[in-house]
Amino acid sequence: MGEIKEFKPEILKEIDRIIKQFPEGNQKSAILRVLHLAQNEFGNWLSADTMDYVARLLHLNPIEVYEVATFYSMYNVKAVGKVVIEVCRTGPCCLVGAENIIRHLENSLEIKPGQTTADGLFTLKTVECLGACGYGPMFQIGETYYENLTEEKVDGILNTFRTAQN
Ligand code: FES
Repeated sequence: MGEIKEFKPEILKEIDRIIKQFPEGNQKSAILRVLHLAQNEFGNWLSADTMDYVARLLHLNPIEVYEVATFYSMYNVKAVGKVVIEVCRTGPCCLVGAENIIRHLENSLEIKPGQTTADGLFTLKTVECLGACGYGPMFQIGETYYENLTEEKVDGILNTFRTAQN
């Protein structure tokens, strides 16, 4: 049994508001937004305990929540580092060098996609199209898109986060 998790009252209120936007009996439709809130609230990832909690709140079977959480790459179902780098690996970005950028990140961070650096700072993920196909290669960190990436640009971005950490 893991730790007991609960949303703060103001977030529970927000969830109630979200649920009420859908017709009676369709509370499942709120799942994406509630999972976002849960991920933000509980350490940027969704543990089994967190997903079970969301299932209880929405009166769903846990498996229904697991299915959604594991389908979308925007949800982390494993603990992640402070900085999650989501690199697009879909065709148009690959045509302009996404694979080189991924290789460069792997070498610089000494991890593979799906892994977190030993210091807990960076997690590397590869994801499908992020809708910035004309600006590849690109990755997303939090809400920010980094576009037209080169190895030099990537080094600069990594260093900025390393420096901010110290
Ligand atoms: S293919 Fe990379 S953002 Fe669309």
